[in-house]
Amino acid sequence: MLSDRPSPAAAPGPSPAPAAAPQLAPPILEARDLTKRYRLGSEEVEALRGVSLAVRPGEFVALMGPSGSGKSTLLQLLGGLDRPTSGQVFLDGAEVSRLSDAAATRLRREKTGFVFQFFNLVPLLSVAENVGLPFTIGGTDPTRGEAAERIRDVLRLVELTGRERNRPDQLSAGEQQRVALARALVTRPAILLADEPTGNLDYTTGTEILDSLWRTCVERGQTIVLVTHDSKAAAYADRVLFVRDGRIVDEIELGRRADHSAAPLIARLAQLGL
Ligand SMILES: Nc1ncnc2c1ncn2[C@@H]1O[C@H](COP(=O)(O)OP(=O)(O)OP(=O)(O)O)[C@@H](O)[C@H]1O
Ligand SMILES: [Mg+2]
Repeated sequence: MLSDRPSPAAAPGPSPAPAAAPQLAPPILEARDLTKRYRLGSEEVEALRGVSLAVRPGEFVALMGPSGSGKSTLLQLLGGLDRPTSGQVFLDGAEVSRLSDAAATRLRREKTGFVFQFFNLVPLLSVAENVGLPFTIGGTDPTRGEAAERIRDVLRLVELTGRERNRPDQLSAGEQQRVALARALVTRPAILLADEPTGNLDYTTGTEILDSLWRTCVERGQTIVLVTHDSKAAAYADRVLFVRDGRIVDEIELGRRADHSAAPLIARLAQLGL
């Protein structure tokens, strides 16, 4: 269960200078010409119509687009939660779309962490037990050894140290989402996939989650793909891909910016008529 992926040491000091994602590294995640058709009775829905993309290690990419444009479908294919109708997904060197169901499940557990709009915490478990669930499911005791150390470490990252014994109903919505984020990160996945993680939160609480994602990216070199409607959220990313009608129709390179101002993104979207 525990992967031996090296964890870059946290940068010293409270506000590390944002390092840009390496430009020349081969992609850690790649999609080639993905299509996805859903059958609904006699109707067919073409959710994706040929999507290709590449994400570099350590990069923070946002997927924006109107409702129904195919963002969640794309994220599910990228994370191996579902299979494309055609096309290929490569995750950390392995072609996910070719694996058996069992191998795809294993790869997904080892290489991906997911965060969704609804936190999906287990109500009767404590914060530490919820975060330790991936270990428990994998047959590792989360209260001992390296698993316990990783839980402490990731709770520090999302600023929930001291809340280990709380149950989810004893936390605010933003804290609950940070628990979900910690659970997604505790296995040190190659890639973190987040689908509208701030969609259920007010502005201030949403900002806390985005700040946690940002810290993960800058301090740990975590690769992130974030689906969002919200240009303020997308403005945290290095690069924004715009999805419409099942295709990527535009790409906006923002670069790594510590101020997260949405103004340049909003200006570009307006220019492009998006
Ligand atoms: N399981 C499914 N069965 C049938 N159609 C589906 C299924 N999932 C998604 N769709 C359809 O595929 C299209 C893309 O859906 P998707 O959920 O990917 O959009 P989205 O961009 O995530 O939208 P939103 O912003 O509202 O979450 C939509 O037309 C949707 O109705
Ligand atoms: Mg969606």
